[in-house]
Order: sequence, then C-alpha cells, then structure tokens
Amino acid sequence: DAVELGQYRHYMQKEIFEQPQALANTLEIIAGGGSVNPQLFGADASGVLNGVRQVLIIACGTSYHAGLVARYWLEAVARIPCTVEIASEYRYRDSVPDPDTLVVVISQSGETADTLAALKHAKAQGMGRTLAICNVPESAIVRESRLRFITRAGPEIGVASTKAFTTQLAALALLTLALAKIAGRLDADAESRALNGLRHLPVAVQKVLELEPEIEQWAQRFAAKHHALFLGRGRHWPIAMEGALKLKEISYIHAEAYAAGELKHGPLALVDKDMPVIAIAPADELLEKLKSNLQEVRARGGELYVFADAGSEIVESEGVHILHMPEHYGMLSPVLHVIPLQLLSYHAALVKGTDVDKPRNLAKSVTVE
Ligand code: G6P
Repeated sequence: DAVELGQYRHYMQKEIFEQPQALANTLEIIAGGGSVNPQLFGADASGVLNGVRQVLIIACGTSYHAGLVARYWLEAVARIPCTVEIASEYRYRDSVPDPDTLVVVISQSGETADTLAALKHAKAQGMGRTLAICNVPESAIVRESRLRFITRAGPEIGVASTKAFTTQLAALALLTLALAKIAGRLDADAESRALNGLRHLPVAVQKVLELEPEIEQWAQRFAAKHHALFLGRGRHWPIAMEGALKLKEISYIHAEAYAAGELKHGPLALVDKDMPVIAIAPADELLEKLKSNLQEVRARGGELYVFADAGSEIVESEGVHILHMPEHYGMLSPVLHVIPLQLLSYHAALVKGTDVDKPRNLAKSVTVE
C-alpha cells in the first residue's frame, strides 16, 4: 500500500487520528493571521460570489451531511438562504433554476457519478456560479466547476469517510465567512474571532480524540445491539445523521437519526431497553429542549448515551451515560461532536469483527449510477 498504516490497525482509525493535521493543512491559508477573502475559492471568485442570493449545496453520503451542517451556518451567519440536496435527487428533479444561486458541490473523491451529473445538470440550466469543495485537485468535479476549494485531508483509504468530512466542514466555514463578509455581515471583530476559532480547531479536535478509551467502553455495550437511535438538534442534527451512517456502514448495526423534536412523531414507539439512544448535547441554545426529549426516552426505559459539552449539566444516573466533551465550541461545535461518533462506530465494528476499511457491498467512490 502506498500509504502506510504505521501504529494503527485500520486506515479508518489512522484517518480519524489524522484529523488535527488534516484540518491544520486545510486551514493553512489562514494560519498566519490575515482575513477571509473570496480568493480562497479561486482567482475570479469575487465576481462569482458577489450578488449571490442563495446557495444550493449538492452532494452524496457523508459529503451531503457536511452540506446539511453548512446550511445552518450560511443562514445564521451570512443570512443567505440555503438548500441542500442529495445529488441523485437533484439531477432528476424538475427544479427551478436561478442564475444568482451559488451551486456548491461537495465531494471527497471528485468522481461521484451522481454529484458530477448534478453539477452538469445545474450548469445546463444556466446556473454558472459553481464551486467545488473537493479533496482531489485534478478530479472531474473540480474540472467542471468555476471555483474550487481543495481540502487537504490527504488520501482517504477507509470507505467510511472521516477526515474528508471534517475538512469539508472547515472549508464550508470559510465559505460562510466569505459570503458573510461580502454581504456586509461580518465586522472585523467577528471575523477575527471566527478565524481564531478555526485556527484553534486542530488542538480542540486533538483533545476530543483523547476520549477514545471511554468511547471504546461504550462500544463494547453497543456491539450486541441490533438497532440504535441518534438524536440531535439544529446544526447537530446532521451530526446525528452522520453518526448513524457511520454505525450502519461499518458495524452493520441498524441506526436511524432523528431531529430530537420529532421523537414524539414516531421513533418514541421504538424505544425500549434494547434500543440505545445516542444524544448529541452541546451546551447551546437548544440544550433545554433536548433535555426534555431525553427524559421522554428515559421514561420509556431507553438507555441513553449522551455526548455532552463541558457545562451541559446533564447528570449521570441509572440508564443515563454521559461523556463530557472538553469544551463548548460555538458555531464550529459540529466539527468536534462528530469525532466521538466516528470512534464509537469504529470500536463497535472492531468488537463485531467486520472489515472496517472495506465494509461489505460499499465502495469508496461510486463512479457509476
Ligand atoms: C461513498 C463513500 C462515502 C462518501 C460518498 C460520497 O458512499 O463510501 O464515504 O461519503 O460516497 O463520496 P464523495 O467522494 O463524493 O464525497
């Protein structure tokens, strides 16, 4: 193999632990101070980004989940309406084209057939403002796009995407800031605070990785289960989706993600002692709402595994297991909260003895429809 495993048992584990470096490399352009400017996305980015009225994000799989997180950022920070679409749906949907929409395609490989076709479809409909966020510079998707941001995750070998995802989020955070700035919604103070948050991200991720031994213990209990439910709210709902996807992909445990507020509209009927419920509980404005959702689960005998931030004040009790994240990280919190979910699925898969790097029936890059 061109890329060595070194001290790691699997590429997935190696790639999870490479995230601080992958983020530092991707964010190198802002390392030495400076500011966010449109040129991060290509020489003629100013012209393309100026006057953008909405953003349409298109992707598949894990890259789609990165897009879903970005929607919360783009609307809250840049105040630009954003929709996020699965590429295989968008390409065949009779949608309404708008030339002032920025079309953002996200892809680790840059070769996913549906994402490439969706990009061509958007262009054919007169949507010329296109941006690729991609990990492979000379890929088909990058060649088809007017603007580009190349994530510098390095080669990702494990089929289940990890470091590509967090670097995509870093790129999307930069895009959010750039669009906010163009729209006159980012003053110098806010910009420098946001940039500091990004610069500190590799260190913050490193601290989360140190939770591995505790997560490993949780995974032991999980591996025997047949189903799991992931809950999150707001910008952490897509993180719940990503956690469920990871668990499905490599440990073959059936997992579903729900926006916590939807519990009562269905999934609560499934909750019993055999259905572990994983909750993402950052110390944000939705925490109190989430806590009452968790009580509903507990009242039905569901076993809770809660990823809480420092300061979340959720207490451990019978059937409520808590893992405290080192710090609360504001807007960028989803980047930190996905890490324990990656580790949880990795260790659950180890217990089950599945082929972690090459899960059955799945391919790293889906280049045919
Ligand atoms: C496959 C991979 C996923 C990936 C998805 C999209 O399903 O197994 O890990 O997220 O394709 O791939 P892309 O290269 O476009 O990000």
